Amino acid sequence: MRPSRLASIGVARVYITRSLPEHLVESVLATHDVGSWEGEGPVPRDVLMGQVVAVDGLLTMITEQVDAALLDRAPSLTVVSQMAVGVDNIDVDQCTARGIAVGHTPGVLTETVADTAFALLSSIVRRLPEGQQAVKDGLWGPWDPFWMTGSDLAGSTIGIVGMGRIGRAVARRAAGFGMRILFNTSSPRREELGEFCSLEELLESSDHVVVCVSLTDQTVGLIGTRELELMKDTAFLVNVSRGPVVDTDAVVDALGRELVAGVALDVTEPEPLPPNHPLLGFSNCLVVPHIGSASKRTREAMAELAISNLLAGIEGRPLPARVVVS
Ligand code: GLV
Repeated sequence: MRPSRLASIGVARVYITRSLPEHLVESVLATHDVGSWEGEGPVPRDVLMGQVVAVDGLLTMITEQVDAALLDRAPSLTVVSQMAVGVDNIDVDQCTARGIAVGHTPGVLTETVADTAFALLSSIVRRLPEGQQAVKDGLWGPWDPFWMTGSDLAGSTIGIVGMGRIGRAVARRAAGFGMRILFNTSSPRREELGEFCSLEELLESSDHVVVCVSLTDQTVGLIGTRELELMKDTAFLVNVSRGPVVDTDAVVDALGRELVAGVALDVTEPEPLPPNHPLLGFSNCLVVPHIGSASKRTREAMAELAISNLLAGIEGRPLPARVVVS
């Protein structure tokens, strides 16, 4: 790992790419020279490229690209600490080659994201967005025995793609809902949480497919036209991983051809999804704006862990949650 300038001059320079609540950053403010982006939205690339020239530590969001071009401008950088579990926006290999530690925030957001997956799943199978729209449109007439009927979770089969922390938390919820659990994963199998099967078998046999994998070169476009064609036409698809894992055009096509019963997405490609995007024209497609981990408590816990990683990196200590290169 690169030595931090803390050893020689006693203070490190850090840059935080979004304004975070002061009580969360006070441990860094107290001892280090801190700059942060205070503008609306993500820090512009040119501002970030200027800031990294002199910093020892960088605290990033998923909106920043930490690539070779940025790292080339940051000769004293010792740590990149991301306030998210996914680090697909960071070139971890390039960081590692330069002795820069990369931190992230696993664990603290697991249950919140799994809650979001279940909220999306229950909403789409029971047609909640359509129901609310009908109420707003004045279509709520006298009670009707077969109006707005959807599907059930209890007694159905859920297929979980990616059985990491979040996948397992989804599985625990599914067990509570009385669902049969199938899963496919590249991480070590934990048979007690369900039945391992191939992706093809999972897609063919599941009533609900929930995607929880990380975005890597291997998972880009993991769910495309072929996979959607394998799904039952009564099945639902939920994505809480990263947008590029599910091919957006293939989803639009599948909804148009009624290959699946419904889709619920917390993440899309592109993000943000333009309001006139064809996906939003389907009443059986629910899209929310990448809020999987967005409970107040969880976002604070993520910020705290990101700050602990940042401090550890600039002080030359092991990061509490370092990204492990596989
Ligand atoms: C958010 O998307 C995360 O990766 O934590």
